[in-house]
Amino acid sequence: MIKSGIDKATSFEKRFEKVNTVIFESSEVASKAVAAEIAALIRKKQEANEMCVLGLATGSSPKRLYAELVRLHKEEDLSFKNVITFNLDEYYPMEPDAIQSYVRFMKKLLFDQIDIDPENCHIPDGTLAKEDIADYCKAFEAKIDALGGIDFQILGIGGNGHIGFNESGSLPNSKTRLVTLDHITRVAASQDFQGLYNTPKTAITIGIKQIMRAKKVVLFAWGEGKSNIINKAVEGPITEQVPASYLQDHPNSVFVVDKGASSLLTRVNSPWVVEKVNWDAQLIKKAVVGLASKLEKPVLMLTEADYIENGMSDLLTEVGDAYDINIRIFNKLQHTITGWPGGKPNADDTNRPERANPPKKRVLIFSPHPDDDIISMGGTFMRLQDQGHEVHVAYQTSGNIAVADDEALRFSNFVVDYNRSFGLDNEKSLEIYKKATKFIQDKKTSEIDIPEVRSIKGMIRRSEAKATSYYVGLTDEQIHFNNLPFYETGTIEKNPWGEEDVKITMDLIDKIKPHQIYAAGDLADPHGTHKVCLDIIFESLKRLKSEPYMDDCWVWLYRGAWQEWDIEDIEMAVPMSPSQVLAKRYGIFKHQSQKDGVVFQGSDSREFWQRAEDRNRETAMKYDELGLAHYAAMEAFVRYKF
Ligand code: F6R
Repeated sequence: MIKSGIDKATSFEKRFEKVNTVIFESSEVASKAVAAEIAALIRKKQEANEMCVLGLATGSSPKRLYAELVRLHKEEDLSFKNVITFNLDEYYPMEPDAIQSYVRFMKKLLFDQIDIDPENCHIPDGTLAKEDIADYCKAFEAKIDALGGIDFQILGIGGNGHIGFNESGSLPNSKTRLVTLDHITRVAASQDFQGLYNTPKTAITIGIKQIMRAKKVVLFAWGEGKSNIINKAVEGPITEQVPASYLQDHPNSVFVVDKGASSLLTRVNSPWVVEKVNWDAQLIKKAVVGLASKLEKPVLMLTEADYIENGMSDLLTEVGDAYDINIRIFNKLQHTITGWPGGKPNADDTNRPERANPPKKRVLIFSPHPDDDIISMGGTFMRLQDQGHEVHVAYQTSGNIAVADDEALRFSNFVVDYNRSFGLDNEKSLEIYKKATKFIQDKKTSEIDIPEVRSIKGMIRRSEAKATSYYVGLTDEQIHFNNLPFYETGTIEKNPWGEEDVKITMDLIDKIKPHQIYAAGDLADPHGTHKVCLDIIFESLKRLKSEPYMDDCWVWLYRGAWQEWDIEDIEMAVPMSPSQVLAKRYGIFKHQSQKDGVVFQGSDSREFWQRAEDRNRETAMKYDELGLAHYAAMEAFVRYKF
């Protein structure tokens, strides 16, 4: 199913997919394959003494592509002297040197690192007077036309299906123009602008018509967060509501997606309706859970007819009758439920998710930001502590960028008052307070905070994390702040992980020698921090694998604030009573700086405690609907074997 090059999908896949779609193991592999294709095109044009016209996108999707093109330039002599680029879009208004400008983005990630002639780089101008935009857009298109159109167009896709900033409702003949941004687009962008209020309302974008004229179009989509819109654009009808669906009509377009983004395509989600499959245990579970959910029936109520009418008759032929399959899956689901996440002492653990022994385990919970532990596994955290295990929590990053400026001033002012009231030396505190106040008053949108302000913000989150851990019952020796360096850029954009990050993490694991590690396996986190935090843990585990204590170490992945595991993947489901749900809520409330409209809300307007409760309730409801016991809420985990 997963291809190594960007070749054509098979005819089976085509039954459901209306545009050529290629699934790669990861965005890294995919980006390299596309970069190789672009490099080949540039070289071919060089040999023919021709210019190569590239259409480029910004956003998170093409970042790895640009990194690979830079590598090809530096290590494999790929020259960009014959390349002319046109970027899809730019916010309006926008100064080219602003932190969020696409000019700055492109220079940093690509143009400044290759030998392209700056004159050949075109990005819509965000500084024009409004009345000049229409003429400018005409000239921009004319320039592309004069070069014979775009040879190779790179696209990302918005949550609403936009390409460029052609939002839902854009017509197929739309031209390069000034557009009003969709609310969804602005909410997604608001992360870069410190809130929706500061986010531009308009942008200049190349139109659909010009994109459709490109000789080749490659659209990138990474992560489960994109799976819904990819499903619509690839398998749904062509509609202006999902502008990316226009590409179904393009003669040479490819959707290049990773496993996460492909997860709702029919061939991935229900492969048995696409082709003959090998019914392994996991696929049977997925198919039966999917069937029960679709028909809104408990698993034990599914009939032979239900299987046959839903394209699963060969499962019956190969595996057994419906009655046996139903019982098998029911039991599997049942065995995932446990009120003893650290294992139940002195109990038969044959069918339990965790081992009974040792009865008292050393547990290490990794929390990427200071509140993920309580938000994502607060109920389990409390149970582990209450059931007598030695629970440690490690806050991987400081989380300082998610604190509002006025909070920082409030706390710094508090310190000044505190010192004054108790007659303590106040000189240094006052100096810092004044410096922070002056900086924040003059701060331009999204200017990077000075170190003092960043520290204050970090301290606020640290004190909140401690408050939660004390609330659960931990002592200071059990609370660890890793302050991983990769995070400390002061901007949304983080550095890749480095040796120091791995060393800090390895040292802690080695010190605690845990029987259980909990980590955030939440790859859809829009800021990417969770993914880097997880990669650091995986790398540390790999390096520590030969240590004897690691044989007894089980790793459980929870999901962060953004999404939950699919029911068929859950290996441990920890139920919560109504009062445990409330206790968890109070634990989340300790994170006061993250309440009431946080800086990085994302596209979900619910507060974190609401999201957590809704999600835990939904998981419990799904188990209930499948015919298992009815609990108030459930937290879910998947075991990672290394
Ligand atoms: C950016 C652009 C947009 C993005 C899209 C996806 O130049 O035109 O259409 O490609 O919003 O953004 P990411 O890649 O950040 O998910």
